Amino acid sequence: RFIKSLTTSPSSHIVRRGYASEAVPERKVTVLGAAGGIGQPLSLLMKLNPLVSNLALYDIANTPGVAADVSHINTRSEVVGYASDAELGKALEGADVVIIPAGVPRKPGMTRDDLFNINAGIVKGLCEAIAKHCPNALVNMISNPVNSTVPIAAEVFKKAGTYDPKRLFGVTTLDVVRAKTFYAGKAMVPVAEVNVPVVGGHAGITILPLFSQATPKANLSDEVITALTKRTQDGGTEVVEAKAGKGSATLSMAYAGAIFADACLKGLNGVPDVIECSFVQSTVTELPFFASRMQHSGASSLFYSCIFAMEVRLGKNGVEEVLGLGPLSDFEKEGLEKSKPELKSSIEKGIKFATQ
Ligand code: NAD
Ligand code: LMR
Repeated sequence: RFIKSLTTSPSSHIVRRGYASEAVPERKVTVLGAAGGIGQPLSLLMKLNPLVSNLALYDIANTPGVAADVSHINTRSEVVGYASDAELGKALEGADVVIIPAGVPRKPGMTRDDLFNINAGIVKGLCEAIAKHCPNALVNMISNPVNSTVPIAAEVFKKAGTYDPKRLFGVTTLDVVRAKTFYAGKAMVPVAEVNVPVVGGHAGITILPLFSQATPKANLSDEVITALTKRTQDGGTEVVEAKAGKGSATLSMAYAGAIFADACLKGLNGVPDVIECSFVQSTVTELPFFASRMQHSGASSLFYSCIFAMEVRLGKNGVEEVLGLGPLSDFEKEGLEKSKPELKSSIEKGIKFATQ
C-alpha cells in the first residue's frame, strides 16, 4: 500500500513524510548551548533522529548560523534557532526534552568542580526558565560538574514547585560509552554487543563501572579490571589532555547525549524496556543523587530520595523504575564506599548554591 501511494502521488517525498509522522508522535527537543563544541554535533544528531518533529536550538552566541546550517538537512524535524535571552522562553515552550550542554569546558589541570563557579549560575538561570516555560519536559543535564548541576536543577525546580524527580537526569552516558569501548578492546568481544553498567556520579572516582556485570562475559584478571576502571574514570581527562587547552570531549559526548535523548523519546513514546544509566534521584544509597540504570517504558512507579547514577527504566513519564545495583565485586564495593564522600560534598555544594 505504501509503495502504491508513493507511485500514485504527484509528490512522493510528501507522502513519505506523512507516512513517518502518522506512526511517530510529534516531539519537540530543545538544545540549550546548541552552538558549542557539544551543542553543534548534538544538534546535528538530533536533526537525524526521526522521533524529533521540532528542534529548537538556543545559545547566547552563534545560533543563527548553526540553526540555518542544520535546518537544510532533509529529515523530519523543523529547526528554529533562538539567539538571545529574550527568546529563551520561545525555545523552551512545548519542549518534551531539554538537553543542556551550556557552560564552559575544562582545560588541562582543571577538575570538573573547577567549572562550578561559572556553570552553576548558567545552569540555574536556564533551569528557572525551564520551570517557567516547560515544567513537564524531561531535562538532560550535560553541563559539568554534573554531580552538582543536577542538584542545582532539582533545587531550582523545587523552589518553583515543578520538581518531578522522574524528569531530571544527569547525563552519564559517556561513561557507559567509554566503559563499553575499553571493555570490548580487552575482552576481545564485538563492541556492539557489549553492555557495562556505570553507576555513581560523573567525576573521577565517583564514576563506578561495574565490569563484574559486563556482558558478554570475559575472564579478565584483577589487574585488567583495575586498569579498565581507572581508564573509564579518567576518560574525560584523557580527552582534555589530548585536546591540550582546546576543550573537552565534544564528539563522543554528542554521540552519548544523542543516545540518551533518543532513549528519553522512546520512553515517552511508550517503547517498552528502554534501559539506560543516569544520575537520578533514588533510594539506592543514602546519598541524595547517584547515576542509575533506568528503563524507559509504559507504567509508572518510583521510589527514590537520593541522587546516584544507576540503571533506570524509562517510560512515558520519564524514570519509571530505578533498577538495583546488582551484585558488586569486593573491588566495586570498595569503590562505592570511596566515592561517597566526594559525591556527597558535590551534591551538597550544588544544593547550597541553589538554596542560598
Ligand atoms: P563549549 O564552550 O564549546 O560550548 C558551550 C556553549 O554554551 C557555548 O556555545 C556557549 O555560548 C553556550 N552558553 C554559555 N552560557 C550559556 C547560556 N546561559 N545559555 C545558553 N548557552 C550558553 O563547551 P562544550 O565543550 O560544548 O561543553 C559544554 C559543557 O558540557 C561543559 O560544562 C563540559 O564540561 C560539559 N561536558 C559534560 C560531559 C558529560 O559527560 N556530562 C561531557 C563533555 C562535556
Ligand atoms: C567528560 O567526561 O569527558 C566530560 O565530563 C568533560 C570533562 O571535563 O572531562
